[in-house]
Amino acid sequence: MKAMASLLGFCLLALVGSRSTVWAADAAAGKELATVCGGCHGANGISQTPLTPSLAGEPDDYIQWQLVYFRNGARKSDVMGPIAKSLDNPAIRSLGAYYASLSPPKPPPAPPSDMLAQTGAKLATQHRCKSCHGDNYEGVGPAARLAGQREDVLLKALRDFKSGARVGSGVASMADVTFGLNDDDMQALAHYMATRP
Ligand code: HEC
Ligand code: HEC
Repeated sequence: MKAMASLLGFCLLALVGSRSTVWAADAAAGKELATVCGGCHGANGISQTPLTPSLAGEPDDYIQWQLVYFRNGARKSDVMGPIAKSLDNPAIRSLGAYYASLSPPKPPPAPPSDMLAQTGAKLATQHRCKSCHGDNYEGVGPAARLAGQREDVLLKALRDFKSGARVGSGVASMADVTFGLNDDDMQALAHYMATRP
């Protein structure tokens, strides 16, 4: 996987050298900006704070879009709203590049005896979560990484999408998905995703 990623990185570098150079510069600038974020989201983007997401290894686009939604109020948060209002577009770009460049959390995989995780795995297949979030739930573009995210964060997000408290992009994808889920389903899905390396 790592070899694949660096091979891919190499090809991209060869093809679009300038974009990669910009990205590296953005990531370096993002690292400085992220000092204040680390107090809540973890020094390496891996959160130890309740109800606060890990950001390490999130897709660049996902980080950027969520910051824009917080900034324009589409995604409501008393904590992140004011923080995002202080960020201009170049800062958001840099923060996206930086967090995307960090190694994602790698929890130990759930053992086969973990029935809640087994239920979550079945529900994930049934509801085709991979079709948007990627084959390993690693996140794709504007769709978040789910693998290894904090369980409390995942559960809150699912409940917020279902209740309409979280709208974000305004594109109905997660509202549609959670419409067909009850709270037990959401607990199983959150547990499954949180225990996936
Ligand atoms: C005081 C604590 C705190 C600080 C400082 C903070 N955050 Fe947050 N952040 C949170 C909380 C809490 C949430 C979850 C909000 C919710 O439940 O919707 C969050 C959510 C986010 C999300 C959405 C992630 C997801 O998985 O949906 C992003 C992106 C983010 N923060 C980026 C940042 C960046 C970048 C900074 C620094 C410029 C920062 N945060 C500083 C507490 C903080
Ligand atoms: C049609 C595409 C699509 C499908 C299918 C889908 N998602 Fe999502 N999901 C998204 C998008 C896009 C976002 C970002 C939403 C936003 O920006 O407001 C998201 C966000 C999330 C989040 C918030 C993550 C965070 O860190 O805050 C969770 C949790 C989630 N999805 C879980 C699931 C689960 C579990 C399934 C399967 C039951 C699923 N999704 C199926 C597109 C999808």
